[in-house]
Amino acid sequence: MSKLWGGRFTKSTNELVEKETASIGFDYQLAEEDIQGSLAHVKMLAKTGIIEQAEADLIEQGLNKVFQKFKDNELEFTDANEDIHMNIEHALIEEIGPVGGKLHTGRSRNDQVATDMHLYLKKHTEQLICLMNDVQRAIIELSENHVETILPGYTHLQRAQPVSFAHHMLAYFWMFQRDKDRLKDSLKRISWSPLGAGALAGTTFPIDREFTAAELGLDFVYPNSMDAVSDRDFILEFMSSASIAMTHISRLSEEMVIWMSQEFQFIELDDSFCTGSSIMPQKKNPDVPELLRARTGRVNGNLIGLLTVLKGLPLAYNKDMQEDKEGMFDTVHTLTTSLQFLAPMISSMTVNADRMKNAVDTDFSNATDIADYLVDKGIPFREAHEVIGKIVLHCIQNNQFLLQLELADYKMFHEAFESDIFETLKPESVVSARKSTGGTAPKAVSKQLELAKSFLN
Ligand code: ARG
Repeated sequence: MSKLWGGRFTKSTNELVEKETASIGFDYQLAEEDIQGSLAHVKMLAKTGIIEQAEADLIEQGLNKVFQKFKDNELEFTDANEDIHMNIEHALIEEIGPVGGKLHTGRSRNDQVATDMHLYLKKHTEQLICLMNDVQRAIIELSENHVETILPGYTHLQRAQPVSFAHHMLAYFWMFQRDKDRLKDSLKRISWSPLGAGALAGTTFPIDREFTAAELGLDFVYPNSMDAVSDRDFILEFMSSASIAMTHISRLSEEMVIWMSQEFQFIELDDSFCTGSSIMPQKKNPDVPELLRARTGRVNGNLIGLLTVLKGLPLAYNKDMQEDKEGMFDTVHTLTTSLQFLAPMISSMTVNADRMKNAVDTDFSNATDIADYLVDKGIPFREAHEVIGKIVLHCIQNNQFLLQLELADYKMFHEAFESDIFETLKPESVVSARKSTGGTAPKAVSKQLELAKSFLN
């Protein structure tokens, strides 16, 4: 098959080279953006008088037809046409004849592919922000029902202090809030337009780059053509934001897996998000959060992959850059589906408040509060800490918890104990006492919830 760039060549391409250098197998995903970019470009070519209006009209109609064929799955792509750009140009010329060849005036595939990716990431970043909103909304709805649900809070995965379940879940709300902010901020740089940079040096034609940028909804024109065609920062930035978001998703997923274990039984995920075992009939496995946890690995890998491709690359375009795409598509797909899983999984899970409460009733997570109690009575914190350590040890040796001791037992360890110690030690009191801003007391959590809601609107 003859190539769009065939003029200079006397031999045809080696078969394996043709197959392996072609990117159409994955960059067909840029078809819509490629056509969008071409439509803006051709409009500009006519406006500036570089081509006739009638020619531009023909090209525009042709591009729309090609797009329709693409949507109807009727467009035939070939490795011989290498990538989405040449496949579409080829289809256009087949559709409207040689005038289609005027589309590529004053443009190169180098600024074209960069433009496509800017448009692609802009669309997907906006979609991902919406999906993060859905997850945050699910967290808020769940939290509203569990401000007063108490479970152990952990450090080192050891029971530390009891907390409100809403408080625990809202921690994730703020992680996703920062993830959204990162994506929103990166939109500033995603919205730069490389179109019109040409191969690397600009073009001899009197093009209007501001016009095409505005047509495409991009709000800044790269001031340097060499930077325009070789910049992939915006993809790196997207991938690193995605890695951070997936890290958050993996942490929440891990908690879901632990919470659903027989040992915890704090939550149960809906059947629709779990699978069974082919041999053990009793099993209900939390496959979805397990997969989300694991997929963080590929998203991190995609980031490191592209960083490594770009490291040490000379200006301007190099074929190496074609390797930017598969990782980007995979990261977009993985983060998108992970968020799509997460929102309904949160909304549909069962919270086992009794199990959670039972856990705090049978642990020492109220120990800090006895220390604070003694401090209130004027005893230095260090001394109080030592006393409580001894009380806890006494309990462990006698198979008891702090609320099961008698006042006389307490008095053995320190004079200052009175009967109000028992009220202080109830998990509800322990939680309610932490009413500092950002603390776990129901009052503080309700305030936090209001703030969270105001961020969503
Ligand atoms: N398929 C190529 C890529 O994705 C498009 C740009 C090709 N440019 C070139 N000079 N070969 O990077």
